[in-house]
Amino acid sequence: MVSDLVPMSSLSPNLILPEGLRPKLSQVSTLASIPIIDLNEDQHGHGNIVQKISQACEEYGFFQVINHGVPEELCTRMMNTITEFFNLPPEEKAQFFSTDPTKEVRIFNFYLKVKDQENVKMWSESFSQPWHPHDNFSDLLPKNPPQYREVFGEYAKEIGKLNNRLFSLISQGLGLEEDCIQKKLGDNPKLRAQGNYYPPCPEPELTLGLAVHTDPNALTVVLQSEGVTGLQVIKDGKWVSVDPVPNAFVVNLGDQIQVLSNGRYKSVHHRAVTNKEKLRVSLAMFYGPNKETWIGPIEELIDEEHPPVYRRYRQAEFLEEFMRQEGTRRMVKEAFEIRNQGKPVN
Ligand code: OGA
Ligand code: NI
Repeated sequence: MVSDLVPMSSLSPNLILPEGLRPKLSQVSTLASIPIIDLNEDQHGHGNIVQKISQACEEYGFFQVINHGVPEELCTRMMNTITEFFNLPPEEKAQFFSTDPTKEVRIFNFYLKVKDQENVKMWSESFSQPWHPHDNFSDLLPKNPPQYREVFGEYAKEIGKLNNRLFSLISQGLGLEEDCIQKKLGDNPKLRAQGNYYPPCPEPELTLGLAVHTDPNALTVVLQSEGVTGLQVIKDGKWVSVDPVPNAFVVNLGDQIQVLSNGRYKSVHHRAVTNKEKLRVSLAMFYGPNKETWIGPIEELIDEEHPPVYRRYRQAEFLEEFMRQEGTRRMVKEAFEIRNQGKPVN
């Protein structure tokens, strides 16, 4: 299957979106941008950070963090390493190529299902692998570039710490105990990392790097190439670009936080667009519950004024619905809304 990894320099027909699904880049709003939160601010009593994150989670479902404690030089090494991996010759990357989503480690292409025509391929390559703060999965990971395993191991440890801190701040923002959300997400969380590689594209108006989606997990921490925009999120019905800030991570809430918070915090639709000039690479670190975990609105957030919006389900059930809606602009959590029970949502 090497053919799927040949460098994309011309726009073959299976990469061109039908009119209605094109990104319409001239309509992207330049007025708004997602909040930037300094995690080093008011170290004595971090009430202000809790409040800022809470507001960002309610209004955007997305924010960037600076002074997050992960060493800058490690972020640079991680970005350089994942970029070097994607820049390997196609023959070398071919050993990781697989269309089987159950494979632990693989390179693959995303496709968008389009009614009455062939699936449209996204202008990107993605690499998926497990991550764990204390286990570097050494035998599964790439041997080339030679520093990959070591750098990824160090990076995963740091992201583990940052995740703990973010979950604590998010829990407090909801008026809950610090460890509440992480407890609800359960032991042995599902930890996946996804590298995304977006080469320059001759026709950014005709393609997408990543189709419109929400993340089905709980929390995502993204490292992106410096100085290249591409990620966009929906805010008040308009696309807003997430411009890279030096030494920042983009943080976004996944569907499970929206359900746990009973709809107070949002998991927002986002996409990646392409550009003509520059290569863009991102590395998303996903944290979600494992398949056996029961998820539903947290009891403390339910009262007469706030009746439960979602029914309880096992994460396996959520993922089945997620797979069922493959290739569409998914409405997965809507299928678990109490008012929609028994109705088709998508
Ligand atoms: C993702 C994602 C955004 C990006 O991997 O789920 O939304 O900027 N990535 O690549
Ligand atoms: Ni995403």
